[in-house]
Amino acid sequence: MRVPEDKIEAYYDALSAFWHPVARSADLVESPLGVRLLDRRLVLARLEGEAVAFEDLCRHLGAALSIGDVVEGCHLRCRYHGWSYDRTGRCVDIPARRGRPIPREAKVRRFHTREAYGIVWVCLAGEPQHDIPPFPEYRDEEFHKGPLRTYGPWRASVPRVVMAALDDTHFPWVHPGILGDPSQPDPPEHEVWREDGRLLSTYTMLQPDNDTVASGEDRPALEKVTYTNHLTPTSIRLVKESAAGTYVIWQASSPISWDETLVFSYQARTFDRGADRDPDYERLQDEIQEQDRPVVESQRPWLLPPLSSRMMLYIRPADLPLISYQKWLEELGIPQQL
Ligand code: FES
Ligand SMILES: [Fe+2]
Repeated sequence: MRVPEDKIEAYYDALSAFWHPVARSADLVESPLGVRLLDRRLVLARLEGEAVAFEDLCRHLGAALSIGDVVEGCHLRCRYHGWSYDRTGRCVDIPARRGRPIPREAKVRRFHTREAYGIVWVCLAGEPQHDIPPFPEYRDEEFHKGPLRTYGPWRASVPRVVMAALDDTHFPWVHPGILGDPSQPDPPEHEVWREDGRLLSTYTMLQPDNDTVASGEDRPALEKVTYTNHLTPTSIRLVKESAAGTYVIWQASSPISWDETLVFSYQARTFDRGADRDPDYERLQDEIQEQDRPVVESQRPWLLPPLSSRMMLYIRPADLPLISYQKWLEELGIPQQL
């Protein structure tokens, strides 16, 4: 199914007002890094200690600055003819023109950049209109945090990826024996509401025994768990309460393009707090992601179709969280695809 260019452009426009994760802070050290966001090539660099994002395009003859060098920790130098840019994006050295003024137009476009949770975030709009997706457990000592991980890129749009984490009625089908039990396909009762510009949903269900829901001896085959999901249009934080304690998955999706999504993810837990246990939790998460991936990548159309089109036949009450999320995107003017 072809996607009209104007729909893609409108989608990029709408998402450009949000902060998007683009790289690990730890990866931005001595060399520049080329990344893609909303199909735009960006170069990231750490200049004078600050993470900066520029258009990945030298003002001289258009070479990619991401294949250049960071010089003395403060300038980004193009590999082609050595033009150097400071952290504001202004050209400060043209080796073939030394001793003469540098043209005023010799600068590259700089985008808003921030660092939070060990991640570099970029907003492409003139003024960011939203916050970075909150992750309160990051600094909460009650929680042990696993390492930052990335998944993908998946061949799917961001809303499809977020909805895969929001939707629980697929658990018995896609994650049998881990998150759901095929003998119990009845959906839980969902509550969905808005708060402080975010969407929240909660539900209680029975989940098969695994490390994230139970601990100790004599674990029951099925454990009662309550999820509370906190959403922004591009991220989800799943807070799961169970006999084991509180287990959190935080996922921020980066729209590399309209049909490619890279996920930055953390796990946090109040129990089983040893870092030596992290690989077991990572393996579980990897398995779940790999079960989701082929299904999500198979979904069409790539961007969500408008609710009014009835191209997706939601059922109530099971799909209430998905319907609410999609309605919310429509209210926010995030375009859909027919
Ligand atoms: S293209 Fe970058 S210095 Fe010439
Ligand atoms: Fe899933």
